[in-house]
Amino acid sequence: MSVDPDKLQPPSRPELIDFHGVSMTHYFTDNWETVQNFQARPDDILIATYPKAGTTWVSYILDLLYFGQTMPERQTSIPIYERVPFLELFAPPLFSGTDLAEGLSTSPRLIKTHFPVQFVPKSFWEQNCRMVYVARNAKDNMVSYFHFDRMNGVEPDPGDWSNYFQKFMDGKLVFGPWYDHVSGWWKKKQTYSKLHYMFFEDLVEDTGREIDKLCSFLGLSPSAEEKKQITGEVQFDNMKKNDMANYSTIGVMDFKVSPFMRKGKVGDWKNHFTMAQSEQFDEDYRKKMRDPTLQFRTEI
Ligand code: A3P
Repeated sequence: MSVDPDKLQPPSRPELIDFHGVSMTHYFTDNWETVQNFQARPDDILIATYPKAGTTWVSYILDLLYFGQTMPERQTSIPIYERVPFLELFAPPLFSGTDLAEGLSTSPRLIKTHFPVQFVPKSFWEQNCRMVYVARNAKDNMVSYFHFDRMNGVEPDPGDWSNYFQKFMDGKLVFGPWYDHVSGWWKKKQTYSKLHYMFFEDLVEDTGREIDKLCSFLGLSPSAEEKKQITGEVQFDNMKKNDMANYSTIGVMDFKVSPFMRKGKVGDWKNHFTMAQSEQFDEDYRKKMRDPTLQFRTEI
């Protein structure tokens, strides 16, 4: 299925619904049966994140690693959301993540999901697929999600910042609580060896190092030249300019409100949180995030 960007005008902002205990919108639940019955292949790679943790960045890195040399035309002609379909997204007649994924002729197929770990279709586990999870510190993740919800007409209305701040802590955002999401996937890593858990902050700090780790997980050995080229292409300023990576071809997003490639920084939360909010947040965070092995950096 190919996507006509001009037709991507949303009817209205959706309501948040409680779906198996997780806040969702109908865009991600209407195709539930088909998504749950999706037939993964052993070489499929699932890229999983809480929204705004760096999905597009890692998707683009993986796409370049696998197809940058063999299919260079892909880089200039197919937007990232078609190269790496969003499995659970269902907005017919324009978007069906499962149709897009099934239509992929590449091997491996790169597939994106924002599902909390318990919602991942069982065939991915049965096929022992590789999975890459990207996590981002809660404060920056919240800020990024806030601006995304402001500009994206298919997200519920975010309200003002202080409202949003509370909703994030209450887990009342699409795909549920950040806390459960990052912790659920982290816990899965203890029992499922084909899961590579990475952090947005590490990618910002040293993209090359993180690409090396990814390659070793994926069993890839690109040349030094190729790695250098990829590291350059996926720098924020380059991706921001790249219409095949920056979502400028999607009509539902109003870049006048906020661009998709917004800042790409660690620590932007300091421009949004008041001192009181930061303290309130930290106190609540300590109660919710009990596992000492899962640590995030809010600055680098
Ligand atoms: P900000 O809103 O903080 O700028 P996702 O792809 O999961 O929706 O995440 C989007 C976030 O990742 C945005 O964060 C975006 O700017 C950031 N991002 C995307 N590509 C990036 C890159 N190459 N370098 C740094 N940040 C990047």
